[in-house]
Amino acid sequence: MLELHGIEACVFDAYGTLFDVNSAARSAQDSLGEKWQPLSELWRAKQLQYSWLRGLANHHTDFWQVTGDALDFTMSTLQIEDPVLRGRLMNLYLVLSAYPEVPDTLKRLKASNRKLAILSNGTPAMLAAAAANAGIAELFDAVLSVEEVSVYKPHPSVYQLACDRLNLAAGGICFVSSNGWDAYSAKAFGFRVLWCNRFRQEPERIPATPDAQIATLAELPDIVLGGDGLG
Ligand code: LAC
Repeated sequence: MLELHGIEACVFDAYGTLFDVNSAARSAQDSLGEKWQPLSELWRAKQLQYSWLRGLANHHTDFWQVTGDALDFTMSTLQIEDPVLRGRLMNLYLVLSAYPEVPDTLKRLKASNRKLAILSNGTPAMLAAAAANAGIAELFDAVLSVEEVSVYKPHPSVYQLACDRLNLAAGGICFVSSNGWDAYSAKAFGFRVLWCNRFRQEPERIPATPDAQIATLAELPDIVLGGDGLG
């Protein structure tokens, strides 16, 4: 089994990795009916596109705005005109469910004295709300938002933020993301990287291939702690 030695901190992507982005639309199934899934998929795809487009065009605005803009595009595409439902979906985005294995995984890593952090496109308020709702906020040494650098992933200055704030070299950090493009870009930056390939996606064709793939975060502690007898 793969073991990553010398890891001093685990840094997690938030959306899709710790928190289930589909849980917002799923929770509104009573209003959305069978449209909940296409809405969820297009909302997420458009949210990421807007983050990249704003980065390239140097038109940064925060992720709450981008998330709302993406939802507006999506509801309009699906011909859903319902401001109350829009408000409900946005509020649900603040309380996304954590994946079931998340709390135990974090506790095991924390007990081994690894530093834990979130590094996300989300605003500080969005990340604080989701982490508090999931009961995991107190497990993190740092919750880092791209708002500190005003540009979205995968700009290298975002990944650099984790090194600066945790005071660690990139090689001492294990970065974990379920988003293939994020995992590859974090590896290109210099982190050790595990791609939590929850959705069994095909390998990306961008620099650089992550150290390994895992199916869920439950596999993470053995990989990081395997070498020090605390696993
Ligand atoms: C994040 C997005 C990429 O949390 O999921 O940064």
